Amino acid sequence: MKYFFNDLNAYEKAKLKSKNNPNEFWGGLAKTFVWQKTWDKVLEYNFKSADVKWFLGGKLNITENCLDRHLKYQPKKTAIIFEPNDVNESSIHISYEDLHSKVCKVANMLKANGATKGDRICLYMPMIPELAIAVLACARIGAIHSVVFGGFSASALSARINDAQCKILITADGGFRGSKITPLKLIADKALENCPSIKRNIVYKRTNKKINWNNIDVWWHEELEKVDDNCDAEIMDSEDPLFILYTSGSTGEPKGMVHTCGGYMVYTAYSFQNVFQYQKKDVYWCTADIGWITGHSYIVYGPLLVGATTVIYEGVPSYPDYGRFWKICNKHKVNQFYTAPTAIRTLQKQSLKYVEKYDLSYLKVLGSVGEPINEEAWRWYDKYIGNHKCPIVDTWWQTETGGILISSLAGITKQKPTYATLPMPGIEAVLLDDYGNEINGEAKGVLAIKAPWPSIARTIWGNHERYKSIYFSKYPGYYFPGDGALRDDRGNFRITGRVDDVVIVSGHNLGTAPIENIINKHPKVVESAVVGFPHNIKGSALCVFVIANTLVDENRLANELSALVSKTIGPIAKPDRLLVVNGLPKTRSGKIMRRILRKLIDGKDQEIGDVSTLLNPNTIIEIKDKLQIRAVNLG
Ligand code: PRX
Repeated sequence: MKYFFNDLNAYEKAKLKSKNNPNEFWGGLAKTFVWQKTWDKVLEYNFKSADVKWFLGGKLNITENCLDRHLKYQPKKTAIIFEPNDVNESSIHISYEDLHSKVCKVANMLKANGATKGDRICLYMPMIPELAIAVLACARIGAIHSVVFGGFSASALSARINDAQCKILITADGGFRGSKITPLKLIADKALENCPSIKRNIVYKRTNKKINWNNIDVWWHEELEKVDDNCDAEIMDSEDPLFILYTSGSTGEPKGMVHTCGGYMVYTAYSFQNVFQYQKKDVYWCTADIGWITGHSYIVYGPLLVGATTVIYEGVPSYPDYGRFWKICNKHKVNQFYTAPTAIRTLQKQSLKYVEKYDLSYLKVLGSVGEPINEEAWRWYDKYIGNHKCPIVDTWWQTETGGILISSLAGITKQKPTYATLPMPGIEAVLLDDYGNEINGEAKGVLAIKAPWPSIARTIWGNHERYKSIYFSKYPGYYFPGDGALRDDRGNFRITGRVDDVVIVSGHNLGTAPIENIINKHPKVVESAVVGFPHNIKGSALCVFVIANTLVDENRLANELSALVSKTIGPIAKPDRLLVVNGLPKTRSGKIMRRILRKLIDGKDQEIGDVSTLLNPNTIIEIKDKLQIRAVNLG
């Protein structure tokens, strides 16, 4: 691949070209893919109106690039290795040829069940190959997939289905996760009580547990028997939506980020190949869930676009013991391993015997994603997993960016612990001060991107104004991702964390406002504030400050609120601590000063600064005292 920079010279050249002639750079890269019709224009954009279009007029189908084109020269190569939750169940190898046939069959099954181009199809499934197959089958027929993470609750699922007006749901009777079974069908049934747009529910049989059966339900395996595996790829416009993926915002409902076919294809393949330096015979494993963007871009699309072998693991890192990840690396001779800092921290706390039992000598590259990686975790990863011989790529990106924007290229550019390092060639990352002025050299500021890249999300489903306002209005002329960053004298970026009310808990992006809205619905709660605080495994955890309307048993309230959040959003959003207080620090205009609460819970009282302008400075003393004696740990 001409756009595979496997030495520093090629990298430097690419950087220069992308700067001096971006259209030629991106156009040349796009030409390495299969298009039904070449584009008329590489890029058209206007950050003011938040409009971005890539490869205008180009026609393609991403699955022809993920599947068909590999059939010519590597039909028998393993595309997917499936490692089931249960160690006693055999792993499955699916070749490119088989994957092509399976995707085409499922695509035909979707058509037979009423799906057409542009329809939204919701996937609420376990981490099994059929999820990847369903994703690709939607893309094959031009339906827009909306994958909802299997850990979300019924109401979170129905909100997402309704927002996108999905026509079909694909789920499973259940999913295995460690020692537990997630009753996906049961949760989906509950969600579908409020989802009139769903006309068909296709159920994959995974656990064989008894489930309820409704009028709109059909079995996946029965429907498949009715169709064959000939399915021409629907011809899509480069700018047609490929998928919607929901991510939390600091306020309001989750945002359905829309990604489109052409640009997403070009950028995910480009970033996958260059960051991980994937070689033809390598086995690559990303431990994320396909329910998140990491799974979309770097389990499914990126690896398959370049013809890689990608591992899909159904279970959790601790099952049946804390050696499972390393056992899988050993078993499948994994060469590139990509995970999240929260997993590294969890595994680092366990006995080294779980690592030492296994042969990790095949590993060539380690990756990290989802939140800043702390130095201790970085060093452990480097020493015990990488044996000091594997470059670590600390990849910074977002659901909205579609692909990795800042990262070292494994073994090619220099790594620096806790730094994501340099922007990819073609990415113009800058630091801005509070007034939106660019700052040069070694500095601290907010991160912004100056020009579009092909996989930038094009809009928020059904709400372009919100998209414009969140990402393009605060700093006109830039894409604003919402993160703060440091830059060293060599241009390396270190992401310092969110600058808005989003908290990243175990790598999951959680807006605090939607959680507060749920907590405020409890009959004993008058008002609440949710803030993040440092946590040694999760990176950050949530603390909820509550004003109650009556004397309450704090333990009981904590449990009730925890259950409420879990039911409404999902267990991932459960707060770790609760504190009942008489007042919350507010400005004179009544805005809760969450910044002060964050400092208090982090024990950084001396950094709070002048509080004389607050409406109620006394609240700070009360909270300080209470934090010392009785914040309830929810565990
Ligand atoms: O704050 C950044 C953090 O995760 C946010 C994006 O979250 P999400 O859309 O869920 O996507 C996660 C997977 C790409 C970012 O705004 N983040 C992600 N990667 C890093 C990171 N923070 C620091 N270092 C990273 N490598």
